[in-house]
Amino acid sequence: MSNKNENKIHTMWPIYIGEFFNPEHEEIKDDLIEFFKEYEKKNPKSRINKTGDPVENYNLYESQYNLHQEKNPAFEKLLNFISMGFITMSNNANKASLTNLDNKDPKFNVKLTETWFIRYEKGGVVFPHNHQNCSWCCVYYVQIGKDSKEKNGSTYFLKPYTSANSTDFGGANYTYYGTSVIKGDEGKLVIWPNFLYHGSHPYSGDKNRIIVSANASINLNKVK
Ligand SMILES: [Fe+2]
Repeated sequence: MSNKNENKIHTMWPIYIGEFFNPEHEEIKDDLIEFFKEYEKKNPKSRINKTGDPVENYNLYESQYNLHQEKNPAFEKLLNFISMGFITMSNNANKASLTNLDNKDPKFNVKLTETWFIRYEKGGVVFPHNHQNCSWCCVYYVQIGKDSKEKNGSTYFLKPYTSANSTDFGGANYTYYGTSVIKGDEGKLVIWPNFLYHGSHPYSGDKNRIIVSANASINLNKVK
């Protein structure tokens, strides 16, 4: 029997940001870069948003959001890896809901609603924004130099507690840190929930920073 007066600390709505490393990165990297080069040749104009103004981006080439329809084998391998990462994140964030399911061996349908690549020119950036119509988002570093650092080519996240403004130590964790930064490394996949505002620090290395992004919706497969 549980003790009704037991002290507890609940962690409500924690923010999960995952980092995963692709063991197949070296095998697919050159093919991915070749695929993107060919794509750019066929589609020389970078994607612009619905207003016709690439307002959130600077000094980069961005593909359309339906890259998964191109059927490239290396890219399909990468999307499988990304999908596994999405399921891992969803299962962690939804642990309580999974425990309450009647089905103890649930299967999931990961729908990649949008996938695209970005090739940044030197100093190119994406300004802070979040993603709509999905539950999880990601960035995968296809190419970046070894000189990448926390302020050079990384991905940063803005804290979601916009009204946290206490000045005492007690509120430090919610107040003092406006951003959280994850360094870019080739073969690294970073996943976060869709509501989180994020952007990229400019990269000043010699190689173009090339990334893949994807948005996902994840649903339970119905048991027949
Ligand atoms: Fe984004």
